[in-house]
Amino acid sequence: MRTFHIKLKGGAQKSTIVCRKDVLAKQLKGDLSWLNAGGALIFTDSNVYALYQRQIKKLSLPVFVMAAGEEHKTEETLFALLKEMAEVGLRRTSTLIALGGGVVGDIGGLAASLYMRGIACIQVPTTLLAQVDSSVGGKTAIDFCGVKNLIGAFHQPVYVYADPTFFKTLPARELRCGLGEIIKHAALNAELFDKLSAQDDLFDMDFLARIVPDNIQIKADVVEKDPTERGLRRCLNLGHTTGHAIELTQNDLSHGECVLLGLLYESRIAARHLQTDGAYLAALSALIKRVLICDGKSIDIERAAHLALLDKKNTKQDTVTLSVPTKKGEFAFLELDYADYVRDLKEIREELC
Ligand code: NAD
Ligand code: GLY
Repeated sequence: MRTFHIKLKGGAQKSTIVCRKDVLAKQLKGDLSWLNAGGALIFTDSNVYALYQRQIKKLSLPVFVMAAGEEHKTEETLFALLKEMAEVGLRRTSTLIALGGGVVGDIGGLAASLYMRGIACIQVPTTLLAQVDSSVGGKTAIDFCGVKNLIGAFHQPVYVYADPTFFKTLPARELRCGLGEIIKHAALNAELFDKLSAQDDLFDMDFLARIVPDNIQIKADVVEKDPTERGLRRCLNLGHTTGHAIELTQNDLSHGECVLLGLLYESRIAARHLQTDGAYLAALSALIKRVLICDGKSIDIERAAHLALLDKKNTKQDTVTLSVPTKKGEFAFLELDYADYVRDLKEIREELC
């Protein structure tokens, strides 16, 4: 068992992250007395419920199940959940338990932030991606008007329980998605980069379970310094401007896969505009290609670039803002004119495919 605390400025909010096995049977069961006292609702998705309903039912808490998938990260699901929270009688002292991947965590966290102007949320991330990234740090959101995460709030979970036993039921593709965010962290942290580079089988479950806490530590350190993304936290968006734009144009690719593609494109963009370490960027690309199985040939570059222009991270109208890797453990913020960005993406696609 390993425990982290994220203390935010002002000391008002604190998030405790516990890495341990058998969270449903042990941790949440142990929490039941205080959960029942304040009232609680479990929010999960159809896949997770189908796999874990026996353990979930043993908790004897009300459950709300959304249809699984990013396409349901919508206002309809958010409001259906809020309605359920009202109907089961959650109060200010109640807790919403978001049990699932990043989609459940993002919608659940947003609902918890809105309900009665904010109630407690416990994140129980069940995908690799959610354990190493989305459950930590308090970003919550839904997609809206064709833009990823357009409506959201910062709402720190009171607890995050990260349990590697959930990985046993994860399809290989979901491990690949989690590795997308792990490689993003490795691009910010030389030690993690070396660990990944030295590992023969990046999909080995024991290895992944071991590096979950490393990833949480990397993210927690950034969030503690900049909880609401005024500056430093933008480094966690590495590969994400292009990645999110690709994600919106490609229904067949998941978030993690698009992050990997975004990292691949943005490391080459970095080499074109900034002082970078060529050998390191080549090693980073090689690491990405060990995980990514699609080549991105079918990406609609014009559409993706247009969507990148609408990204909420941009600060000016005709520029695209990127966080890009430069040297081992180093990154830079890069603001590109839209025309240059489109040209770069097109040329890089030719190089890659
Ligand atoms: P997801 O929640 O859609 O989960 C992926 C799939 O795995 C789903 O089909 C889900 O039902 C299934 N699943 C979940 N747990 C399982 C388990 N233990 N066994 C078998 N199947 C399981 O997607 P994700 O990759 O977890 O998260 C992606 C989302 O996270 C995106 O919406 C992205 O925007 C968001 N995200 C948010 C942050 C943040 O800081 N808030 C960071 C990164 C990503
Ligand atoms: N996933 C980026 C962040 O949490 O800031």
